[in-house]
Amino acid sequence: MDIVILKDSEQVATAGARVLQKLLMEKKAAVLGLATGRTPKAMYRQWVINCRESSMSFREVTTFNLDEYLGVQPADVQSYRSYMQRELFDHIDIDQTNTYLPACAADENPLDVGPRYEATILEKGGIDCQVLGIGQNGHIGFNEPSSSLNSRTRIKTLTRETIESNRQYFDDPATQPELAITMGIATIMDARKILLLATGAAKADAVRQSIEGAISASWPASILQMHERVTVLMDEPAASKLERLDYYHWVQDQKRRVLAQNESD
Ligand code: GLP
Repeated sequence: MDIVILKDSEQVATAGARVLQKLLMEKKAAVLGLATGRTPKAMYRQWVINCRESSMSFREVTTFNLDEYLGVQPADVQSYRSYMQRELFDHIDIDQTNTYLPACAADENPLDVGPRYEATILEKGGIDCQVLGIGQNGHIGFNEPSSSLNSRTRIKTLTRETIESNRQYFDDPATQPELAITMGIATIMDARKILLLATGAAKADAVRQSIEGAISASWPASILQMHERVTVLMDEPAASKLERLDYYHWVQDQKRRVLAQNESD
């Protein structure tokens, strides 16, 4: 794991934007896995700025979101589709027909959505880089604690704590969904690269358990320890409970030193 601890959430956003810029320079037609929530918003803002002010383009990019609420239609302001339009898709040069979410149409059997989504991801060549946030209980996507570490896109029941922490986004609690369709943990692990973002002290326990704890379905993000190419970008409050903090800083110092050395050669 490449563990990068930065001062604040703005620095996390900037570093995340740099990861994307590098990827799009190597592969214009990249397939991105995207997340919703509060955490990636600042990074998406940077993507929008880079798309407007530099040569960065999403014209050939395809995106797959991690999850979508079940029973919320795309046009609904609370849907993750609306979130993505608002925060990113409406402001960049992406072909909107290449943006996918695991949404269930009103006349569709929800059980068909997962296998179809998996097939579409494969058809597009798999995900090059998956962006992840992390829930306070260690969930990734909506893979709540006890999710199978081998799961694929499917319906999940949200935990009480997730419903509670997402309540702020719903004006009327009665309209808040308790079910969602989410990429599975195995779907996420198939991505060729993973970029996990964590900001704020509320994430400190989940970060510690996921990076330094045992791999367990009780902390779903801990499975990322098994992935070959994970970058974790976090701010100081999110990193505050890590035991090996000094070591992670030291590793990053060494990397910077090697890079500077190579540049001066
Ligand atoms: C949500 C989403 C996740 C997100 C997480 C953290 O419920 N399903 O994809 O990463 O919870 O959200 P936030 O960034 O708002 O803390």
